[in-house]
Amino acid sequence: MQSNVLPKHIAIIMDGNGRWAKKRHLPRLAGHNAGAQAVQRTLQAAQTLGIPFITLYAFSTENWSRPKEEIEGLMALLSQALDKYTNTAMKENIRLWVSGSRDKLSPTVLEKIDKAVKLTSKNTGLTVNLALNYGARQEITAAVNKLLAQNKKEITVEDISACLYQPALPDPELIIRTSGEERLSNFLLWQSAYSEFYFTPVLWPDFNAEELQKALDEYARRTRRFGGL
Ligand code: IPE
Ligand code: IPE
Ligand code: MG
Repeated sequence: MQSNVLPKHIAIIMDGNGRWAKKRHLPRLAGHNAGAQAVQRTLQAAQTLGIPFITLYAFSTENWSRPKEEIEGLMALLSQALDKYTNTAMKENIRLWVSGSRDKLSPTVLEKIDKAVKLTSKNTGLTVNLALNYGARQEITAAVNKLLAQNKKEITVEDISACLYQPALPDPELIIRTSGEERLSNFLLWQSAYSEFYFTPVLWPDFNAEELQKALDEYARRTRRFGGL
């Protein structure tokens, strides 16, 4: 049996911040803060391992249904992180990409994202793709609309892939979801056609290099057949 090499692209559904805070009798935002630290640790680990692409599900199109204070807290946290880590990204040769809709995001957040994406665009180390205001059904629908605008009469699988938010991003070989939930929640529906899934009860703020290694070890044990024998 051939063991899988390191994935080129890992995608993570970072779930469980709220429950982490609840267990500690803290406000949900404290969980999101701790989650931001887990992001730092995980990116560091991915870099050390030499993984080329990582997608992080930070905010879904459905997360707008949360209370206003939580959304504002999350957006403030994101703004702070962009201010704080853009320089680090430059030092560490990290490139930032974003997947998602620009609808409803504030001009301030959009401006900071655009700046960071532009500034880091020539970096050649780890590519961090931030899934922000992301919904997979919306992504596929937007791709089809782009193709309609080109007056296509018939579309191929390749046409759709080429019109997704980040066409140069390879499909994720491995999708990790923390917190014990086992669902996609509108994440990468098109790209996950042949992804391996790894679910762990660990809450996102507790995720670290060791937990990432466990996921990679499990991935290495999987046999991927792609419909063949
Ligand atoms: C994930 O943690 C972060 C976001 C969805 C923004 P949650 O906030 O969903 O945490 P739980 O699921 O309530 O524990
Ligand atoms: C998925 O988590 C979205 C992110 C991690 C950003 P949710 O907590 O929003 O998903 P559901 O509601 O449990 O499916
Ligand atoms: Mg959740």
